[in-house]
Amino acid sequence: MCGIVGYVGKRPVVDLLLKGLGQLEYRGYDSTGIAVERSGEKKIEILKSEGKLENVARLAKELDQAAKGATCGMGHTRWATHGKPTTQNAHPHRTGHVVLVHNGIIENYAEIKREMASKGYHPVSETDSELFGFLVLEEMKAGKKLRPAVTASFRRITGSCSVVVMSDLEPGTVVGIRNGTPMVAATDPKGGGILASDAQPLLDLTKDVIFLEDGVGVEITEAGLKFFEFANDAEVRPATTHLDWNAENMEKGGYPTFMRKEIFEQPTAIVDTLNATLDRAKTEAFPLAKHRASDLLLAAEEIVFVACGTSWHAALLGKYWIEKYARIPVAVELASEFRYRDPVLKPKTLVIGITQSGETADTLAVLKDMKKRGVPTAAITNVRGSSISREADGTFFTAAGPEVGVASTKAFMAQLVTLLCFAGARSKVGPQAAGIDPKVSKKLFEHTLALPHAIQTFLGDEQGLAKQVKAIAKALDDAKGFFFIGRGYSFPMALEGALKLKELAYVYAEGYAAGELKHGPIAMIEEGMVVVVLAPKDSWRDKTVSNLEEVKARGAKIVSVGEAGDTHLRSLSDHWIPLPHLEDEALLPFAMAPVVQLLSYEIALLKGTNIDKPRNLAKSVTVE
Ligand code: M6R
Repeated sequence: MCGIVGYVGKRPVVDLLLKGLGQLEYRGYDSTGIAVERSGEKKIEILKSEGKLENVARLAKELDQAAKGATCGMGHTRWATHGKPTTQNAHPHRTGHVVLVHNGIIENYAEIKREMASKGYHPVSETDSELFGFLVLEEMKAGKKLRPAVTASFRRITGSCSVVVMSDLEPGTVVGIRNGTPMVAATDPKGGGILASDAQPLLDLTKDVIFLEDGVGVEITEAGLKFFEFANDAEVRPATTHLDWNAENMEKGGYPTFMRKEIFEQPTAIVDTLNATLDRAKTEAFPLAKHRASDLLLAAEEIVFVACGTSWHAALLGKYWIEKYARIPVAVELASEFRYRDPVLKPKTLVIGITQSGETADTLAVLKDMKKRGVPTAAITNVRGSSISREADGTFFTAAGPEVGVASTKAFMAQLVTLLCFAGARSKVGPQAAGIDPKVSKKLFEHTLALPHAIQTFLGDEQGLAKQVKAIAKALDDAKGFFFIGRGYSFPMALEGALKLKELAYVYAEGYAAGELKHGPIAMIEEGMVVVVLAPKDSWRDKTVSNLEEVKARGAKIVSVGEAGDTHLRSLSDHWIPLPHLEDEALLPFAMAPVVQLLSYEIALLKGTNIDKPRNLAKSVTVE
């Protein structure tokens, strides 16, 4: 779960690496480093530091001309797995003339460590990564050039990871291999090429990029890119993907944080995802665009969603919608649990992995396992070329655009859009469709098309919902802890609200199905606790209001989220956030999402946490 960038060409590499690492910091940010080849010298210089990129950027200012003139180098931003986040454990690691960066895990590191110790190699860091350098050094000692030495060494290790290696002895060369964690490469139109853990650092140079498959590596020199399989060193020619992502998308666009920008981009994410999921040339309700994944969805008799975190909450809503509108059974599974179970799946079950990053290790592992068992698989992801999109039999791409804030907001919204479209589309096909009134999905479709406008109006600008939520957040600053409660569609939103608050503000928060409160958690309610009650005017509202009264009677402060005209609910609440009137109760989660996101955001702001990069987290969780 680290970020890697490497470059050889004609551009000054120090700035290029620092900028690229800035774009990859979401992958991990507890230490950073760069290695650059001093111009005119056969010598690689390393700068590294614990903490954020700014520490290395400060060191880079002190570099002499030979290092500043470098046009070949690599960098790394780390999320610690083996060894503490210290400068010593930061990448790049040097072993003799070999310098490397690594993302992922070397599972057989203990065995390699023993073997290397017997040859006199002793690591100076606590990382598994450094051992890889010993292997390469040994191979080069035996007479191999850098690239074959790297592939031979890679064949010795197990576990999913990527490495990028340079050597003082082979100036102007960067060799990278991908096996289980992502790597994207591109030719620099000015000469040479670039690689990185995702496409963002490449976009300043070109939009034509190559997503490496597992098992494939790339050698970059000023002459360009050469791709090869590490298993047998054979050269390969992977396909190029043209990305329509705009480098400007990556900037904050005037917002103080990426997360805030991404919250306000949600109406656009809804529009773009509807356009991506549906065949908009057709007038019928929910006409899914035709491709492999939509064929699989329409043929399935049961669906199992697997996901983690916020994507799992989206899956729960997907279950509610699909079961209600399409009447086919849906199971929702935590990928980290499902992968180690021995599940029983009926024939014609489709397993769908939901992951905004497309790289989440547990979700990916489930799809790989299902593939081995011959179970059809599909994916919902926001990232083209991501690992899951290459693993699944078919993929639905959400169109939220790049999401940089670690907390998922617009990508979550886009997942909801896709899942709602699944429900509408599935209501029309399959044996169960005979019993479903087509008018229902037609109405839902009309209301769905009106959704982007409704959410845009609701969100408004900084003077609207955001201002109101900010004032409430201020009044809650001294809370001992939070419960988010809801029933029906509001239950997954309660889980999502609590997760957001934990990850952004680091305060105690629980999400509960309101009906579960009296089965234990109500014992936690006392003065000083805040209960956020999600009680829009839907089929569950009255029952949730009864639960509100129970916690109010026990001293909790109440923040209610309900329909604007619900004066009774308002009168029971200490703080009140009115929702817009949406024609269909199934669409209410789209309005509740920005409320819980902004509430967590504002509380986090008051606590002074790092909103875009919360502690201990990373945007894509490529380790289990
Ligand atoms: O990339 P994924 O959607 O697979 O990520 C899953 C979770 O790690 C992710 O949703 C996490 O819970 C977010 N940080 C929540 O905001």
